[in-house]
Amino acid sequence: MRNIKPITDPSRPKVYIETYGCQMNVNDSEVILSILQDAGYALTENIEQADVILANTCSIRDNAEQRIWGRIDQFKIQKKKRKGVIIGIVGCMAERLKDELLKAVDIVAGPDSYRSMPELLKAVAPESPQIDVLLSHEETYADISPVRLDKNGISAFISIMRGCNNVCSYCIVPYTRGRERSRDAHTIVREAQELWENGYKEVTLLGQNVDSYQWEGIDFADLLEMVAAVNPELRVRFSTSHPKDISDKVIYTMARHANICRHIHLPVQSGSSVMLEKMRRKYDREWYLERVDKIRSVMPDCGITTDVIAGFSGETEQDHQDTLSLMEKVVFDSAFMFAYSERPGTLASKKYPDDIPYETKTARLNEIIALQGRMSLKSNEKEIGKVMKVLVEGPSKKNPDELCGRAGSNKMCVFPSRGEKPGDYCEVEVVSVTSATLLCRRID
Ligand code: SAH
Ligand code: SF4
Ligand code: F3S
Repeated sequence: MRNIKPITDPSRPKVYIETYGCQMNVNDSEVILSILQDAGYALTENIEQADVILANTCSIRDNAEQRIWGRIDQFKIQKKKRKGVIIGIVGCMAERLKDELLKAVDIVAGPDSYRSMPELLKAVAPESPQIDVLLSHEETYADISPVRLDKNGISAFISIMRGCNNVCSYCIVPYTRGRERSRDAHTIVREAQELWENGYKEVTLLGQNVDSYQWEGIDFADLLEMVAAVNPELRVRFSTSHPKDISDKVIYTMARHANICRHIHLPVQSGSSVMLEKMRRKYDREWYLERVDKIRSVMPDCGITTDVIAGFSGETEQDHQDTLSLMEKVVFDSAFMFAYSERPGTLASKKYPDDIPYETKTARLNEIIALQGRMSLKSNEKEIGKVMKVLVEGPSKKNPDELCGRAGSNKMCVFPSRGEKPGDYCEVEVVSVTSATLLCRRID
């Protein structure tokens, strides 16, 4: 069995990695660590001991990048304290800013350049920073076994594809991650098997648009089926589904397999068809609502979560009201909600002025957040009396005599402990709820 845990051997040079952004970045950090461990490095969680300090970065909104600039200043303090410390910025911000970052750090590497990290580290010298930001049409890191960085050893990410071919007008991802490409299906199944053998109980298949997965005639529904077959006790999740692409085949495949979790993250972005058109999402309000109806007609208990952007270019009060009314109609279980942040180089930045005043954006975002709070509570109240199979994550934060874990729908459950460990399954019944948690009793 391959070692998928970090090496902490003190005789090796030490790498410290901070990860920002989405789940794909979390998994990319695991790929980077795997490549660096093979090249003789070990992991440290203590920045004060690091020989190499890496930040795996995100460019999705301006505030994500501002945070990194702040961190770079702090990394430089380490460099002053200890000669020879190398600072690397990798990931989406490295890809977007390229040379501009070279003034501040020693290594700049984009999402398709991780295999060259050992050479970049070798070549770096005081007056000679190193950069590799080439994007690839083929790279999927299919043969690399990520070194797992999660703490409890029960749930892991598997990237099934990279890049994105949807040019949503507001989004920087296609520029930072390049063209979409799908990974060899057999390596995905092998990785799921390897995780199962290492005691993992849940895998999440990751892609910017999982429904467009396509590898040698295997589509996403086929892939789901293959991963679900690894073991009936291995839970399978996935993210993200694009409303324009989620197929009936995927929905029916989920319904056929008890171990494919009943949860779909289906980012709507806006409830206004006018905004959706400008966002180039390639669906409208009616299409989205039809997909939700379809999912619920096949799997009435399926959790549906979403992403919403407030204050996109030209958004009128009516467009905003359309978003609120859609949220009320669908009753999402939860949502990630953002104020629109213009990203340089995107279609929207060239075509549509970022013309919604900060105050209006913030006021709309706050309305959206407040409404979602009420909807989360409403959605949770519907669960009272239902029985759920929960995968234990660990003790509840508030009470050590209780455990917490997620139901298939991805809702957080809290319930009395009988000494179970992370990774055990428990059967519970929902007794009462808050907007964030289902409070349950044991029935097993
Ligand atoms: N591939 C996924 C989204 C990945 S980005 C999809 O298509 O659904 C995650 C979320 O960030 C998006 O769903 C969107 O809500 C938000 N986002 C992306 N670009 C943004 C921007 N410029 N400003 C604000 N939010 C943005
Ligand atoms: Fe961005 Fe759209 Fe691709 Fe999602 S589908 S990553 S929002 S371009
Ligand atoms: Fe951010 Fe890149 Fe993910 S921009 S959201 S880290 S794909």
